[in-house]
Amino acid sequence: MTILPIVVSPDPRLKQVSAPVDEVTDEIRTLLDDMLETMYYAKGIGLSAVQVGVMKRVVVVDVEWGSSRYDQEDEDDDHVHHDGCCHHYEAPEPGNPIKMVNPEVIASSDHNVPYNEGCLSFPAQYSEVIRPDAVTVRYLDEHGKEQILEAEGLLATCIQHEIDHTNGITFVDHISKIKRDMILRKMKKAEKLRASEME
Ligand code: NI
Repeated sequence: MTILPIVVSPDPRLKQVSAPVDEVTDEIRTLLDDMLETMYYAKGIGLSAVQVGVMKRVVVVDVEWGSSRYDQEDEDDDHVHHDGCCHHYEAPEPGNPIKMVNPEVIASSDHNVPYNEGCLSFPAQYSEVIRPDAVTVRYLDEHGKEQILEAEGLLATCIQHEIDHTNGITFVDHISKIKRDMILRKMKKAEKLRASEME
């Protein structure tokens, strides 16, 4: 699996609509695996293909994975099992990765809830976004089989955020203009800084 570079704002690709996937091929399965690996590495809970520069309607989410798998692995290296007993060994929390191709919301709850959202394409930026607290999503799994998922709570929030990405929409499009402009200004500043460092 490969850890891919993440596209960050103000990259114009984040505003583009991604194309539907015609067929779930090995290439798409590899993309799904690489996206999951990239998401865990970046300590995210969701990632859309546009965020790794692939303009396809492909999304991964895992809102249940352990807080920091990569730090954990480093610690495990120097862990000594004195007596074969694993009392002190803290295994990473098992996650629940979901791989979705062409996902779409087919029903949503009338009840809206706020959540303080962030995004790997807007590092260190957070803002409260109000969305339906439950959604029904239809998608193709990694074998090309249609699945229907009823999600609520954080999973519902995360899936809506990622499907937005496939439509060229980011979380800042859901917040007030004042907050949005503030975040976009910070992202532009950070981009200039990166450019100047590369000169
Ligand atoms: Ni995002």
